[in-house]
Amino acid sequence: MKGPAFIVLAVLLGAHGVFAQLNVLAKLAGKQYFGSAVDNPALSDVPYRRQLSNWLDFGQITASNTLKWETVEAQRGVFNFTGGDEILALAKRNKQLVRGHTCVWHSQLAPWVEAGNFSAKELTKIIEDHCGTIVRHYRGDICKQQVHWDVVNEAFEDDGTFRQTVFYKTLGKQYFETALRVARKADPKTKLYLNDYNVEGLNAKSDAYYNLIKELKAKKVPIDGFGVQGHLILGRVPTTIKENFQRFADLGVDIAITELDIRMELPVTPEKLEQQKKDYETVIAACKAVKRCIGVTIWDYTDKYSWVPSWFEGEGAALPWDEDLKKKPAYYGIAKAWVGL
Ligand SMILES: *[C@@H]1O[C@H](CO)[C@@H](O)[C@H](O)[C@H]1NC(C)=O
Ligand SMILES: *[C@@H]1O[C@H](CO)[C@@H](O)[C@H](O)[C@H]1NC(C)=O
Repeated sequence: MKGPAFIVLAVLLGAHGVFAQLNVLAKLAGKQYFGSAVDNPALSDVPYRRQLSNWLDFGQITASNTLKWETVEAQRGVFNFTGGDEILALAKRNKQLVRGHTCVWHSQLAPWVEAGNFSAKELTKIIEDHCGTIVRHYRGDICKQQVHWDVVNEAFEDDGTFRQTVFYKTLGKQYFETALRVARKADPKTKLYLNDYNVEGLNAKSDAYYNLIKELKAKKVPIDGFGVQGHLILGRVPTTIKENFQRFADLGVDIAITELDIRMELPVTPEKLEQQKKDYETVIAACKAVKRCIGVTIWDYTDKYSWVPSWFEGEGAALPWDEDLKKKPAYYGIAKAWVGL
Protein backbone atom coordinates (compact mmCIF):
# COMPACT_ATOMS: atom_id res chain seq x y z
CA MET A 1 0.00 0.00 0.00
CA LYS A 2 2.94 2.34 0.33
CA GLY A 3 4.51 3.82 -2.74
CA PRO A 4 3.98 7.04 -4.66
CA ALA A 5 0.96 5.88 -6.68
CA PHE A 6 -1.05 5.23 -3.55
CA ILE A 7 -0.05 8.59 -2.09
CA VAL A 8 -1.10 10.44 -5.21
CA LEU A 9 -4.40 8.59 -5.25
CA ALA A 10 -5.03 9.28 -1.57
CA VAL A 11 -4.28 12.98 -1.97
CA LEU A 12 -6.45 13.37 -5.06
CA LEU A 13 -9.38 11.64 -3.41
CA GLY A 14 -8.78 13.50 -0.16
CA ALA A 15 -8.63 16.87 -1.87
CA HIS A 16 -12.07 16.14 -3.26
CA GLY A 17 -13.38 15.12 0.10
CA VAL A 18 -14.11 11.60 -1.12
CA PHE A 19 -11.80 9.80 1.22
CA ALA A 20 -11.06 10.75 4.79
CA GLN A 21 -7.46 10.09 5.49
CA LEU A 22 -5.43 12.01 8.10
CA ASN A 23 -4.37 8.79 9.84
CA VAL A 24 -3.59 7.07 6.54
CA LEU A 25 -1.42 10.00 5.47
CA ALA A 26 0.34 10.13 8.84
CA LYS A 27 1.18 6.45 8.51
CA LEU A 28 2.41 6.92 4.96
CA ALA A 29 4.65 9.68 6.36
CA GLY A 30 6.18 7.05 8.68
CA LYS A 31 4.24 7.98 11.83
CA GLN A 32 2.35 5.62 14.11
CA TYR A 33 -0.95 7.47 14.11
CA PHE A 34 -3.04 10.61 13.75
CA GLY A 35 -5.63 10.73 16.50
CA SER A 36 -8.20 12.67 18.49
CA ALA A 37 -9.16 13.15 22.10
CA VAL A 38 -12.72 12.34 23.11
CA ASP A 39 -14.78 12.99 26.22
CA ASN A 40 -17.28 10.30 27.18
CA PRO A 41 -20.52 12.37 27.04
CA ALA A 42 -19.93 13.06 23.32
CA LEU A 43 -20.09 9.34 22.55
CA SER A 44 -23.88 9.43 22.60
CA ASP A 45 -23.79 11.82 19.60
CA VAL A 46 -24.10 9.32 16.77
CA PRO A 47 -22.65 11.33 13.82
CA TYR A 48 -19.80 12.46 16.11
CA ARG A 49 -19.05 8.93 17.17
CA ARG A 50 -19.19 7.65 13.60
CA GLN A 51 -16.51 10.10 12.44
CA LEU A 52 -14.40 9.49 15.57
CA SER A 53 -14.51 5.79 14.71
CA ASN A 54 -13.25 6.38 11.18
CA TRP A 55 -9.83 4.75 11.26
CA LEU A 56 -8.81 6.44 8.02
CA ASP A 57 -8.75 9.75 9.93
CA PHE A 58 -8.10 8.56 13.48
CA GLY A 59 -5.80 5.70 14.35
CA GLN A 60 -5.60 6.70 17.99
CA ILE A 61 -7.81 8.16 20.71
CA THR A 62 -7.18 9.78 24.09
CA ALA A 63 -9.75 9.98 26.88
CA SER A 64 -9.72 13.72 27.54
CA ASN A 65 -11.16 13.56 31.08
CA THR A 66 -12.24 10.19 32.29
CA LEU A 67 -8.83 8.87 33.35
CA LYS A 68 -7.96 11.91 35.46
CA TRP A 69 -7.42 11.39 39.17
CA GLU A 70 -10.64 13.08 40.38
CA THR A 71 -12.66 10.68 38.21
CA VAL A 72 -10.68 7.47 38.49
CA GLU A 73 -9.86 7.56 42.21
CA ALA A 74 -12.24 10.11 43.71
CA GLN A 75 -11.92 8.31 47.03
CA ARG A 76 -8.68 6.83 48.23
CA GLY A 77 -8.35 3.24 47.08
CA VAL A 78 -11.72 3.21 45.26
CA PHE A 79 -11.15 3.05 41.53
CA ASN A 80 -13.82 3.73 38.90
CA PHE A 81 -12.87 2.57 35.42
CA THR A 82 -16.34 2.84 33.88
CA GLY A 83 -15.53 5.81 31.64
CA GLY A 84 -12.04 4.61 30.76
CA ASP A 85 -13.28 1.14 29.89
CA GLU A 86 -15.90 2.66 27.57
CA ILE A 87 -13.20 4.51 25.63
CA LEU A 88 -10.90 1.49 25.55
CA ALA A 89 -13.68 -0.76 24.27
CA LEU A 90 -14.47 1.72 21.51
CA ALA A 91 -10.79 1.95 20.56
CA LYS A 92 -10.53 -1.81 20.46
CA ARG A 93 -13.54 -2.10 18.12
CA ASN A 94 -12.09 0.62 15.90
CA LYS A 95 -8.56 -0.84 15.97
CA GLN A 96 -7.32 2.46 17.37
CA LEU A 97 -4.31 2.96 19.63
CA VAL A 98 -4.82 4.68 22.97
CA ARG A 99 -2.92 7.27 24.98
CA GLY A 100 -3.53 7.04 28.70
CA HIS A 101 -4.03 10.47 30.20
CA THR A 102 -2.90 11.03 32.95
CA CYS A 103 -1.38 9.63 36.18
CA VAL A 104 0.07 12.53 38.18
CA TRP A 105 -1.33 16.02 37.66
CA HIS A 106 -2.05 18.89 40.04
CA SER A 107 -5.29 19.84 38.26
CA GLN A 108 -8.49 17.77 38.22
CA LEU A 109 -6.88 16.05 41.17
CA ALA A 110 -9.06 14.30 43.74
CA PRO A 111 -9.35 16.77 46.65
CA TRP A 112 -8.35 14.15 49.25
CA VAL A 113 -4.79 14.05 47.85
CA GLU A 114 -4.09 17.65 48.83
CA ALA A 115 -6.34 17.77 51.87
CA GLY A 116 -4.63 14.84 53.56
CA ASN A 117 -1.40 16.69 54.44
CA PHE A 118 0.39 13.44 53.75
CA SER A 119 3.97 12.72 54.68
CA ALA A 120 6.51 12.04 51.92
CA LYS A 121 6.30 8.33 52.64
CA GLU A 122 2.51 8.25 52.44
CA LEU A 123 2.31 10.40 49.33
CA THR A 124 4.84 8.13 47.61
CA LYS A 125 2.61 5.17 48.43
CA ILE A 126 -0.43 7.07 47.13
CA ILE A 127 1.29 7.79 43.79
CA GLU A 128 2.42 4.17 43.54
CA ASP A 129 -1.08 2.87 44.23
CA HIS A 130 -2.73 5.32 41.84
CA CYS A 131 -0.38 4.99 38.86
CA GLY A 132 0.29 1.33 39.45
CA THR A 133 -3.41 0.50 39.53
CA ILE A 134 -4.51 2.45 36.47
CA VAL A 135 -1.56 1.50 34.28
CA ARG A 136 -1.95 -2.15 35.28
CA HIS A 137 -5.67 -2.02 34.54
CA TYR A 138 -4.97 -1.06 30.92
CA ARG A 139 -1.71 -2.87 30.42
CA GLY A 140 -0.87 -3.85 26.87
CA ASP A 141 -1.19 -7.57 27.23
CA ILE A 142 -4.84 -7.13 28.20
CA CYS A 143 -5.68 -4.18 25.97
CA LYS A 144 -3.57 -4.67 22.88
CA GLN A 145 -4.21 -1.13 21.74
CA GLN A 146 -2.57 0.58 24.73
CA VAL A 147 0.48 2.58 23.67
CA HIS A 148 1.31 5.54 25.88
CA TRP A 149 0.83 6.98 29.33
CA ASP A 150 1.22 10.63 30.24
CA VAL A 151 2.76 9.67 33.57
CA VAL A 152 3.34 13.23 34.78
CA ASN A 153 1.42 16.16 33.33
CA GLU A 154 2.24 19.90 33.47
CA ALA A 155 5.01 19.74 36.06
CA PHE A 156 6.74 23.02 35.18
CA GLU A 157 5.88 26.72 35.11
CA ASP A 158 6.49 28.68 31.91
CA ASP A 159 9.71 30.15 33.37
CA GLY A 160 11.15 26.64 33.71
CA THR A 161 10.83 26.33 37.49
CA PHE A 162 9.12 23.33 39.03
CA ARG A 163 5.41 23.91 39.53
CA GLN A 164 4.73 24.02 43.26
CA THR A 165 2.24 21.17 43.34
CA VAL A 166 1.45 19.02 46.35
CA PHE A 167 3.69 16.40 44.76
CA TYR A 168 6.68 18.69 44.32
CA LYS A 169 6.24 20.40 47.66
CA THR A 170 6.12 17.08 49.50
CA LEU A 171 8.57 14.99 47.48
CA GLY A 172 10.74 17.32 45.42
CA LYS A 173 11.61 15.97 42.00
CA GLN A 174 11.77 12.43 43.35
CA TYR A 175 8.11 12.05 42.44
CA PHE A 176 8.90 11.82 38.71
CA GLU A 177 11.06 8.79 39.37
CA THR A 178 8.46 7.23 41.68
CA ALA A 179 5.68 7.59 39.12
CA LEU A 180 7.76 6.47 36.13
CA ARG A 181 9.14 3.41 37.88
CA VAL A 182 5.78 2.22 39.13
CA ALA A 183 4.23 2.75 35.68
CA ARG A 184 6.99 0.72 34.05
CA LYS A 185 6.50 -2.06 36.53
CA ALA A 186 2.74 -2.04 36.01
CA ASP A 187 3.13 -2.33 32.23
CA PRO A 188 6.64 -3.02 30.93
CA LYS A 189 5.50 -2.45 27.34
CA THR A 190 3.70 0.88 27.50
CA LYS A 191 5.54 4.05 26.52
CA LEU A 192 6.02 6.51 29.37
CA TYR A 193 5.71 10.22 28.71
CA LEU A 194 6.03 13.56 30.44
CA ASN A 195 3.51 15.97 28.92
CA ASP A 196 3.07 19.77 28.98
CA TYR A 197 1.95 22.91 27.14
CA ASN A 198 4.02 25.87 25.92
CA VAL A 199 6.90 23.51 25.16
CA GLU A 200 6.49 23.38 21.37
CA GLY A 201 9.48 25.61 20.58
CA LEU A 202 12.79 26.37 22.26
CA ASN A 203 12.16 28.23 25.51
CA ALA A 204 12.81 28.11 29.26
CA LYS A 205 10.09 25.54 29.84
CA SER A 206 11.21 23.12 27.12
CA ASP A 207 14.80 23.62 28.40
CA ALA A 208 13.59 22.49 31.83
CA TYR A 209 12.15 19.29 30.33
CA TYR A 210 15.28 18.74 28.31
CA ASN A 211 17.39 18.90 31.45
CA LEU A 212 15.02 16.76 33.51
CA ILE A 213 14.79 14.02 30.87
CA LYS A 214 18.56 14.04 30.49
CA GLU A 215 18.91 13.60 34.24
CA LEU A 216 16.29 10.83 34.38
CA LYS A 217 17.99 8.97 31.56
CA ALA A 218 21.38 9.31 33.26
CA LYS A 219 19.82 7.72 36.36
CA LYS A 220 18.27 4.95 34.23
CA VAL A 221 14.76 5.99 35.19
CA PRO A 222 12.36 4.70 32.52
CA ILE A 223 11.23 7.52 30.23
CA ASP A 224 10.27 6.98 26.61
CA GLY A 225 8.80 10.19 25.36
CA PHE A 226 8.06 13.85 25.61
CA GLY A 227 4.45 14.88 25.02
CA VAL A 228 4.06 18.31 23.51
CA GLN A 229 0.46 19.36 23.96
CA GLY A 230 0.24 21.97 21.21
CA HIS A 231 -2.52 24.26 22.47
CA LEU A 232 -1.62 27.06 20.07
CA ILE A 233 -2.90 30.48 19.01
CA LEU A 234 -3.69 31.54 15.46
CA GLY A 235 -0.74 33.24 13.76
CA ARG A 236 1.54 32.58 16.71
CA VAL A 237 2.97 29.15 16.04
CA PRO A 238 6.56 29.00 17.38
CA THR A 239 9.27 28.99 14.69
CA THR A 240 11.61 26.57 16.48
CA ILE A 241 9.43 23.46 16.77
CA LYS A 242 11.63 21.32 14.56
CA GLU A 243 14.85 22.25 16.38
CA ASN A 244 13.19 21.64 19.71
CA PHE A 245 11.82 18.22 18.69
CA GLN A 246 15.18 17.25 17.24
CA ARG A 247 17.06 17.94 20.46
CA PHE A 248 14.70 15.64 22.37
CA ALA A 249 15.08 13.00 19.68
CA ASP A 250 18.86 13.31 20.03
CA LEU A 251 18.45 12.75 23.76
CA GLY A 252 16.89 9.38 22.94
CA VAL A 253 13.17 9.93 23.53
CA ASP A 254 10.17 9.98 21.21
CA ILE A 255 8.07 13.09 20.77
CA ALA A 256 4.29 13.05 20.41
CA ILE A 257 2.07 16.04 19.80
CA THR A 258 -0.64 15.16 22.24
CA GLU A 259 -3.34 17.87 22.42
CA LEU A 260 -3.10 19.96 19.29
CA ASP A 261 -5.58 22.77 18.65
CA ILE A 262 -5.13 26.27 17.19
CA ARG A 263 -7.63 28.75 18.55
CA MET A 264 -8.72 32.07 17.10
CA GLU A 265 -10.65 35.10 18.22
CA LEU A 266 -14.25 34.83 17.13
CA PRO A 267 -15.96 35.46 14.81
CA VAL A 268 -14.50 33.12 12.23
CA THR A 269 -13.56 34.69 8.87
CA PRO A 270 -12.30 33.05 5.67
CA GLU A 271 -8.93 34.79 6.23
CA LYS A 272 -8.60 33.32 9.71
CA LEU A 273 -9.46 29.86 8.42
CA GLU A 274 -6.72 30.18 5.79
CA GLN A 275 -4.23 31.28 8.46
CA GLN A 276 -5.31 28.34 10.60
CA LYS A 277 -4.71 25.99 7.69
CA LYS A 278 -1.15 27.35 7.36
CA ASP A 279 -0.59 27.07 11.10
CA TYR A 280 -1.68 23.43 11.20
CA GLU A 281 0.55 22.78 8.20
CA THR A 282 3.53 24.30 10.02
CA VAL A 283 3.06 22.10 13.07
CA ILE A 284 2.49 18.88 11.12
CA ALA A 285 5.46 19.61 8.85
CA ALA A 286 7.70 19.93 11.92
CA CYS A 287 6.52 16.55 13.19
CA LYS A 288 6.98 15.01 9.77
CA ALA A 289 10.54 16.35 9.57
CA VAL A 290 11.67 14.75 12.83
CA LYS A 291 11.75 10.98 12.64
CA ARG A 292 11.15 10.45 16.36
CA CYS A 293 8.01 12.59 16.34
CA ILE A 294 5.82 9.53 16.25
CA GLY A 295 2.26 10.82 16.11
CA VAL A 296 -0.19 13.68 16.50
CA THR A 297 -3.40 13.90 18.53
CA ILE A 298 -5.84 16.78 18.23
CA TRP A 299 -7.73 17.82 21.36
CA ASP A 300 -11.06 16.57 20.08
CA TYR A 301 -11.69 16.92 16.37
CA THR A 302 -14.74 19.18 16.11
CA ASP A 303 -15.41 22.71 17.35
CA LYS A 304 -18.66 21.31 18.72
CA TYR A 305 -16.80 19.69 21.63
CA SER A 306 -13.69 21.85 21.94
CA TRP A 307 -12.63 22.95 25.43
CA VAL A 308 -11.52 26.34 24.09
CA PRO A 309 -14.71 28.49 24.24
CA SER A 310 -15.28 27.68 27.90
CA TRP A 311 -11.67 28.46 28.87
CA PHE A 312 -10.74 31.42 26.67
CA GLU A 313 -13.40 34.08 26.45
CA GLY A 314 -14.23 35.13 22.89
CA GLU A 315 -12.01 32.44 21.35
CA GLY A 316 -12.80 29.17 19.62
CA ALA A 317 -12.94 27.40 16.24
CA ALA A 318 -9.67 25.66 17.10
CA LEU A 319 -10.17 22.30 15.39
CA PRO A 320 -10.15 20.92 11.83
CA TRP A 321 -13.88 20.10 11.81
CA ASP A 322 -16.49 22.80 12.45
CA GLU A 323 -19.49 22.54 14.79
CA ASP A 324 -21.52 20.77 12.09
CA LEU A 325 -18.75 18.18 11.67
CA LYS A 326 -17.75 19.66 8.31
CA LYS A 327 -14.08 19.75 7.38
CA LYS A 328 -12.42 23.17 7.55
CA PRO A 329 -9.41 24.34 5.52
CA ALA A 330 -7.24 23.18 8.46
CA TYR A 331 -8.11 19.58 7.56
CA TYR A 332 -6.57 19.97 4.13
CA GLY A 333 -3.59 21.80 5.64
CA ILE A 334 -2.86 18.76 7.80
CA ALA A 335 -3.28 16.38 4.85
CA LYS A 336 -1.01 18.51 2.70
CA ALA A 337 1.70 18.66 5.34
CA TRP A 338 1.71 14.88 5.84
CA VAL A 339 2.20 14.42 2.13
CA GLY A 340 4.84 17.13 2.08
CA LEU A 341 3.42 19.12 -0.80
C1 LIG B 1 -18.25 5.60 37.90
O1 LIG B 1 -18.16 6.51 36.83
C2 LIG B 1 -19.31 6.57 36.03
C3 LIG B 1 -19.06 7.52 34.87
O2 LIG B 1 -17.74 7.58 34.45
C4 LIG B 1 -20.49 7.01 36.83
O3 LIG B 1 -21.63 7.01 36.02
C5 LIG B 1 -20.68 6.09 38.01
O4 LIG B 1 -21.70 6.60 38.85
C6 LIG B 1 -19.39 5.97 38.80
N1 LIG B 1 -19.57 4.94 39.83
C7 LIG B 1 -19.39 5.17 41.11
C8 LIG B 1 -19.58 4.01 42.01
O5 LIG B 1 -19.07 6.28 41.54
C1 LIG C 1 0.76 18.80 58.24
O1 LIG C 1 1.61 17.83 58.83
C2 LIG C 1 2.74 18.38 59.49
C3 LIG C 1 3.61 17.24 60.02
O2 LIG C 1 3.47 16.07 59.31
C4 LIG C 1 2.29 19.29 60.62
O3 LIG C 1 3.43 19.88 61.23
C5 LIG C 1 1.35 20.36 60.07
O4 LIG C 1 0.85 21.13 61.12
C6 LIG C 1 0.22 19.74 59.31
N1 LIG C 1 -0.59 20.78 58.66
C7 LIG C 1 -1.91 20.76 58.65
C8 LIG C 1 -2.58 21.91 57.95
O5 LIG C 1 -2.56 19.90 59.16
